[in-house]
Amino acid sequence: MRIRTAVIPVAGKGTRFQPVTKAVAKELLPLVDTPTLHHIVLEAANSGIEKIVLVTSKGKSSIEDYFDSDLNDEVLKKIQIVSIRQKNPRGLGHAVLTAKPLVENEPFAVLLGDDVIVNKGRPCIGQLMDVFEKRNGSPVVGIMEVPASETHKYGIVSGQRVDDHTILLDKLVEKPAAGQAPSQFAIPGRYILTPDVFPILENAQPGAGGEIQLTDALQALAKKRELFAFQFQGRRFDAGDRFGYLEANIYFALQREDTRESTEKLIKRLAKELL
Ligand code: G1P
Repeated sequence: MRIRTAVIPVAGKGTRFQPVTKAVAKELLPLVDTPTLHHIVLEAANSGIEKIVLVTSKGKSSIEDYFDSDLNDEVLKKIQIVSIRQKNPRGLGHAVLTAKPLVENEPFAVLLGDDVIVNKGRPCIGQLMDVFEKRNGSPVVGIMEVPASETHKYGIVSGQRVDDHTILLDKLVEKPAAGQAPSQFAIPGRYILTPDVFPILENAQPGAGGEIQLTDALQALAKKRELFAFQFQGRRFDAGDRFGYLEANIYFALQREDTRESTEKLIKRLAKELL
């Protein structure tokens, strides 16, 4: 079955990025001049997604206003963007469950707004959609290797390798404490899920940080059916972190034709001025 819908949770308060997030949705912070969320919606649209479900919350209506404005973007014009409100945000698992009425009992993609992933070929979520097809409709999470000192920031997975880039999962742990991680393979916010995750989320108990964790629901799902992890091609930026955001901005400024040369000059000049 084809993946047509992508859920993007955008209800978070952006506590890692204060003070600006006291008044501005972190998803609208720009990379050069284009919001991080715009890049993520393009990743979905360029992968063949037809409908985006934004899970928003109080204080985030500027996100809907942004996508209602005339963006002059041919790719965006082809995609339908709808939203649903998460009244009492209780974690990522709860955000995904909130999207259920708009997902229509089909397999769907989830893209997290903090993670901007770039590459030259097929976008990250498109690569996972291809694995979903190849693995006969089993759920898939994207993974990347992280240093052992960073496993506490992510959902970490382990299992049995089935090919060069794919692992059949038996363990998924949300933000394991230092020394407790089952591997160094982290999920940077890209998932292809099947609707049988919803009943698990409906009955889920709070996990790490007192929140309903998607990772815990996927651990339960992995006990019932095959669930794969795929090491995608691409470079990921943590745009929800101050330094990751700065890094992404410099990367995009250096990558875009209209800003590359002047940014290179600017960086050299500033580096000299600092000496
Ligand atoms: C969430 C997920 C975590 C994932 C991470 C990727 O955590 O719960 O499993 O690895 O996103 O960015 P958050 O960063 O929202 O706390």
